Amino acid sequence: MTFKLPKISFPFVKKAAKPVVFIHFLTEKETKDWLKKQDKTAQNQVKSAGFSGNKGETLILKDNKGQVDKILAGISEKPHYLESATAAQAIQKELSKDFISKHVFEVAKGPKTETLTKIAIGWGLAAYTFDQYKKNDRLIPVLLWPAKADEKEARATIEGICTIRNLINTPPNILGTDELARAAKDIAETHKAKFKVIKGEELKKQNFPMIYAVGQASPRKPQLVDIKWGKAKDPKVTIVGKGIIYDTGGLNLKPPQAMRDMKKDMGGAAHALGLASMIMALKLPVNLRVLLPIAENAVSGNSYRPGDVLTSRKGITVEIDDTDAEGRLVVADALTYASEDKPGLLIDYCTLTGAARVALGYDIPAFFSNNEDFIDDLRHLSLKQDDPVWPLPLWDGYEKEMDSNVADLINNGKGRAGAIHGGLFLQRFVDPSIDWIHLDCYAWEQNGKPGRPQGGADTGMRALFHFIKNRYS
Ligand code: BES
Ligand code: ZN
Ligand code: ZN
Repeated sequence: MTFKLPKISFPFVKKAAKPVVFIHFLTEKETKDWLKKQDKTAQNQVKSAGFSGNKGETLILKDNKGQVDKILAGISEKPHYLESATAAQAIQKELSKDFISKHVFEVAKGPKTETLTKIAIGWGLAAYTFDQYKKNDRLIPVLLWPAKADEKEARATIEGICTIRNLINTPPNILGTDELARAAKDIAETHKAKFKVIKGEELKKQNFPMIYAVGQASPRKPQLVDIKWGKAKDPKVTIVGKGIIYDTGGLNLKPPQAMRDMKKDMGGAAHALGLASMIMALKLPVNLRVLLPIAENAVSGNSYRPGDVLTSRKGITVEIDDTDAEGRLVVADALTYASEDKPGLLIDYCTLTGAARVALGYDIPAFFSNNEDFIDDLRHLSLKQDDPVWPLPLWDGYEKEMDSNVADLINNGKGRAGAIHGGLFLQRFVDPSIDWIHLDCYAWEQNGKPGRPQGGADTGMRALFHFIKNRYS
């Protein structure tokens, strides 16, 4: 059977065929005015619960017969896109399955389009579960589609984010290299994009030596996915994503705790696909290309070794110091290939270094760019989108730390600047005339919060979507 990604649930209806329960999304200020117009039964409940309209607060109001009457949900003036997820989650916790299944929830009049779109996105994301392999009798509350919300944007955002989650969460015995390529093909077909894949020995023949070398130890063949979409006359944007379906570290084997979550090492590829699906669904006027170097970093008699010297597609020779620095190798060949086509913008997403996490924690991808103007622009824009990415420098003072005694370059820098070494390494393979952004991301939600369960997660997808949108339309 060919692999299929789980279906993404959209917990919305366009017409309410069941009784409706209104949800009043109110700011602190609006709560005061609203309360004045209510009867004593409601006022007393609001008072005794201490509901004040702060974001994250939810209150289920009863009528004087004790029946559910309406729901209050606190929301900020400029809400975060996950705020409505708190309400959706409170409903699941506090109301019975029977009640939820017999009702439809509706956003009461008030919020404008931008807020309504965020309410819809948060609601949709709250419905996400990864339950292919676990019994789950959770019932998802259904929202009457808020007519003034931007449906295309909400759908594309939910789909992009849930695609990332599903790809990352799928266990590594199930999502092999073929399966990741297959998922990419399905996404391409959904949007009528062109799909090509170069696989196994063919990678060697067509000169992708480093993708081949990293993947050569695994019976699951390495591959390079190549998706193209859009009009030739539009500006070329290429997105590359690190697709290591599992990172054991190779012969430099990772210790147990470090290996534990390494199914997420294809998180870069998942981000590239999630972002591409958003761009295609919302038809941004760009000529899009997605390149995914896919491999399993496995251990066998045939593994590449510390001490090996690889000749890259670009011709630069690379000495392997550490087989656990595999991501930069596969991505380097893909960046070389991408550069040959001279895109106007080249982006790569990689779960590349632990050092980026030491610098910025789990939630904030580090980004690097050879275009100084992007540094402040992207950082600002990412904060506005509640999807922070933070710059680190491509400091050329550290270039010498990438020297090897026997090759042009080494795959593990000397010194402490691990994330910068990763960026500097990749930069050698990018044509300097091309605007390039490298994101070193975690692709994982460590703790879980409303609308963002523990597990595979987007970090820096929406930020880049808006960056591309602003630049080209
Ligand atoms: N996939 C890892 C990086 C990683 C580890 C990302 C933990 C997120 C969480 C990558 O392939 C790796 O192992 N990097 C090494 C590089 C080092 C050997 C130069 C690292 O960061 O330790
Ligand atoms: Zn590694
Ligand atoms: Zn890795």
